[in-house]
Amino acid sequence: MTDLPPLLEKLAREIDMTGPMRVDQFMAMAMTDPDYGYYSTGAPIGADGDFITAPEISQMFGELLGLWAVDTWQRLGCPDPFYLVELGPGRGTLMVDALRAAGAVRPFMTAMRLHMVEASGPMRVMQSTKIAHTIEHHYSLDEVPTDAPLILIANEFLDALPIRQFQKTSRGWCERLVGLDRKPTLPGLPKPDAPSLCFALLNEPINDPIGQLGARVRGALPGAIAETCPGGETLVEALSHRLIAQGGAALFIDYGPAQSGLGDTLQALKDHQFCNVLTTPGQADLTAHVDFDRLARIANKAGAQAYPIATQGAFLEELGISYRANSLKKTGRAADIETARKRLVDTDQMGELFKVLGLSAPGLPGLAGLPMNTDGLS
Ligand SMILES: C[S@@+](CC[C@H](N)C(=O)[O-])C[C@H]1O[C@@H](n2cnc3c(N)ncnc32)[C@H](O)[C@@H]1O
Repeated sequence: MTDLPPLLEKLAREIDMTGPMRVDQFMAMAMTDPDYGYYSTGAPIGADGDFITAPEISQMFGELLGLWAVDTWQRLGCPDPFYLVELGPGRGTLMVDALRAAGAVRPFMTAMRLHMVEASGPMRVMQSTKIAHTIEHHYSLDEVPTDAPLILIANEFLDALPIRQFQKTSRGWCERLVGLDRKPTLPGLPKPDAPSLCFALLNEPINDPIGQLGARVRGALPGAIAETCPGGETLVEALSHRLIAQGGAALFIDYGPAQSGLGDTLQALKDHQFCNVLTTPGQADLTAHVDFDRLARIANKAGAQAYPIATQGAFLEELGISYRANSLKKTGRAADIETARKRLVDTDQMGELFKVLGLSAPGLPGLAGLPMNTDGLS
């Protein structure tokens, strides 16, 4: 019993009292439970943590995003003031590199008010320590002021938001739940003392699966899984309304397909290794693929401009990562810089799996690094 994750016991008690919970409820507790949630208790990013992200691989990533923000600010007409917003800034590395690069443009720095949306206490402390600029922290985008244009950046934020899962059965599409695994015990033997979790299905199928899950579910075979991310969808819709009202642009970089699909993409990572999603809640990073196509459609429906989804590799090349790498190589460590560049852009590394979704108020003449929308979404 001593090695049992405390959150597993808390989840088991809750399920025992109120019955199986939805996957998004399980994921929300695993990630942000105030006492035992993964992001509430530590700072797991980096070579010595559970996983590594693009800004931790190379300073080039944050620097190019800083220059992207300056370019976007100029396209917006150099508003003063404006809000530079980062969602889920992690260790603050991206913003440190971005502001160093943007620092050459003094009027940008003077007009900028830095706001960060961060759920994790330890991460907030790290960000405030590393970033030599006043930061206003928030728990939600709703708390960011509404009286000036926004330039928003989110790298590997959406993949951490809780998802719901639905499985095709002979009864229809049923919601996937997390329940308690009650292994039968032989009469006379004590009940197993270590609770364990398992997936289950709600008996009742959902109504209107195409309306709720999209056209991708047409013709799906029994056993197929469809996912939705209610938090991500609400956020993109609200952000789109804000971009229209306040002006501005946003950039989401994350991993997932450019076209909506089916499949179970929920995964757990601990010490850079995949592990079981249900066995160590609160002690492993849980993520799921981001459905960029669905988010772009939500933004367009809300009246914002969604740019065609780009791959991270194409986006960074367009912003000039190879030029930046060549110039950095002159100062030494050329082999390391080349390895990092390739890791960020090569198609068999992060270059293809990671996608970039740009959003703006309608009427903005494009965003650096992204193709222009010529004929809308297919
Ligand atoms: C995978 S990390 C990415 C960190 C950083 N952007 C990077 O690229 O290194 C996810 C970040 O989002 C934050 N986060 C996760 N869920 C959140 C939520 N629901 N609300 C606010 N922040 C959240 C985490 O604390 C962490 O800072």
